[in-house]
Amino acid sequence: MLTEKAKDAPATSPASHGAPASTDDLVAYFQGEYVALRDANVSIMTHAFMYGTAVFEGIRAYWNADQGVLYGLKLREHMERIRRNAGMLLMTDLPPVDELVRIVFETIRRNHFEEDAYVRPCFYLSGKSIGVRLHGLPHELTVLAVPFGNYVDTEKGIRIMTSSWRRNADDALPARGKIVGGYVNMAFQKSEAELNGFDEALVLTPDGHASEASAANMFVVRDGVLLTPPVNDDILEGVTRRAILELATTFGIPVESRSIDRSEIYVADEMFLCGTGVQLSPVIELDHRPIAGGAIGPITRQLHEAYFAAIRGNDKRFMHWLTPIPTR
Ligand SMILES: Cc1ncc(COP(=O)(O)O)c(C=O)c1O
Repeated sequence: MLTEKAKDAPATSPASHGAPASTDDLVAYFQGEYVALRDANVSIMTHAFMYGTAVFEGIRAYWNADQGVLYGLKLREHMERIRRNAGMLLMTDLPPVDELVRIVFETIRRNHFEEDAYVRPCFYLSGKSIGVRLHGLPHELTVLAVPFGNYVDTEKGIRIMTSSWRRNADDALPARGKIVGGYVNMAFQKSEAELNGFDEALVLTPDGHASEASAANMFVVRDGVLLTPPVNDDILEGVTRRAILELATTFGIPVESRSIDRSEIYVADEMFLCGTGVQLSPVIELDHRPIAGGAIGPITRQLHEAYFAAIRGNDKRFMHWLTPIPTR
């Protein structure tokens, strides 16, 4: 089962090649220094802890054993996004993208990861004062990185249900902002789906269009055309979504970004989710209705194969997605 759980679960597999054996021993960037994760702690009075006033990114790095290279996937794009989103929370004087990339490099180098990893940068309002607001508060940056093995199944196809919880509307709490507090909305959707025996949730906009999954963007195929909700349907503007659009263009698959009705998915030929956590995950059932006959359709299969080759540095055409990260 491929779910967001994998992204949030503590990394249990010890890193190889002499890397630390427990997450406590991993090195994180915290308050301008590289410290053991066990020492990267904030006060319970921290503004972000009390009010969720922080923005974050999830980034994957893939180890290519044949090449002996760790590739950061779309590293700069993630850093550009977190900078813009931090600005949305009125944080100013943010480090440039080059500096953020350098901090990720150094965090990974100090952990000596020579296996797949997950990196989570976060800008948070760090003031210790009671009073909900965004302005006039100091902020800090953290970067944590954990080994992240390939232990989730992206082949089998997942079963999803339409959530009874709507996506936060952009004029209430912008999904494109990747704001920590906003993820309570996603948590309601994910738990509802899992507690009802599904793998994931399809989340609708307040006006009833398909928006995305709890923490992944979505695509459907109808009559050979790849459809995805537009950026103004309360989605996170996913980095993976953009990569899939590029793959589709490369393969000459027609693409349309437009609002999608729930019942269009019931009659769709194929569906899949994409995101840093889920990677590319075929959907074989929505609300007990099989999609693609309960199997994985041909366009999904083609994109799936191409995506997994590209992210590990095995397809020359997409090397511009990848940043080699020094591990020593
Ligand atoms: C709500 C939401 N939608 C979509 C995505 C996919 O975005 P990305 O491809 O940038 O990881 C995420 C992140 O994983 C997310 O949290």
